[in-house]
Amino acid sequence: VSLRTCNSLAIDELAEYLVEVASYAELLEALTLARQHAWPVTLLGGGSNVLLCGPVPGLVIVLALRGRRLLQRSRTEALIEAEAGENWHQLVNWTLDMGLAGLENLSLIPGTVGAAPVQNIGAYGVELEQCLHSLDAYDRSQNKIVSLMADDCQFAYRDSLFKRSPGRFVILRVRLRLWPQAVAPLHIDYAPLARAWQATGLVSPDARVVSELVCQIRRSRLPDPAVLANAGSFFHNPIVSGEQAQALLAKHPALVHYPQAGGRVKLAAGWLIDQAGWKGYREGPVGVHAEQALVLVNHGGAKGRDILQLARRIQADIQRRYGLELQIEPQAVGVPSL
Ligand code: EPU
Repeated sequence: VSLRTCNSLAIDELAEYLVEVASYAELLEALTLARQHAWPVTLLGGGSNVLLCGPVPGLVIVLALRGRRLLQRSRTEALIEAEAGENWHQLVNWTLDMGLAGLENLSLIPGTVGAAPVQNIGAYGVELEQCLHSLDAYDRSQNKIVSLMADDCQFAYRDSLFKRSPGRFVILRVRLRLWPQAVAPLHIDYAPLARAWQATGLVSPDARVVSELVCQIRRSRLPDPAVLANAGSFFHNPIVSGEQAQALLAKHPALVHYPQAGGRVKLAAGWLIDQAGWKGYREGPVGVHAEQALVLVNHGGAKGRDILQLARRIQADIQRRYGLELQIEPQAVGVPSL
């Protein structure tokens, strides 16, 4: 089965077997079948954060569990629950339609609800962990459903328990703590968002407007995977010690950087790659996006190894110029061919 339509980089690799599961019973059936045949299992949501490096042996399970509900609502907070296969952006819109705020900065992020905790999605000053209340997951090492509170999920920048133990947990549903619009804290510190908000002239907070501004900013910089295949940011923003940041800033005063808790400093990898001259670079079917150097794109027909080759060249260049090791952000899937 071709996986081309199951990954936003549109890489055409084969899965040995593929099944879409729409319920917990179907998931258990698929996992049992895989165990009986000793097939390795690969879990997929929307496929917007994976890099297919080669054919995928065994069974690919696409999580398509649907449903979303309001569990509680008071004047000061609300709790919602959504199944793993729900589309993330549609969930954001549904909460905003109910007058609930909290997810507006995370508007238009591609992918599914179940994938959101895996990389602790974050954008424009907000990370999922700030809203995540708890989640239910099937723990394949204990063969049972476990409920995990946000504190159990080991969230960090683009990282979580689920990313650190790949294949162990199948996230089934997620519960998010939100706020009625009137009491919601809005996060508009991210400079381009703050500027766009100011330009609206609005004085009272409005989560819907923040969501629209975030969508505008994203559309202006990030390619729509339906038009130009990509997996969002291809590298993490590196987090370095205060001393290393000082040394780099002495040489490159314009380097975009964000101080973190504990004295460490996050550096804008997009700026580094851009300054190194890669923005808009194209090599056969693959390239670096012309508006955002942190995004690698597939112009059509690229294989995983084409993308990886370009990524390795960029990594080597950034290492040589700045002494920094860039980490690849999407999760590698499949067996690279020789
Ligand atoms: N920059 C450049 N040239 C570029 C790209 C960026 O100079 O080609 C500069 C920008 O001008 C800005 C700074 O670098 O001053 C940061 O750029 P941007 O605000 O676009 O964000 P980012 O750090 O590149 C991160 C996330 C994005 C998220 C944005 C907004 C990571 C790996 N990426 O990107 O997340 O949308 O911040 O919060 O942390 C994703 O994970 O797929 C993703 C898109």
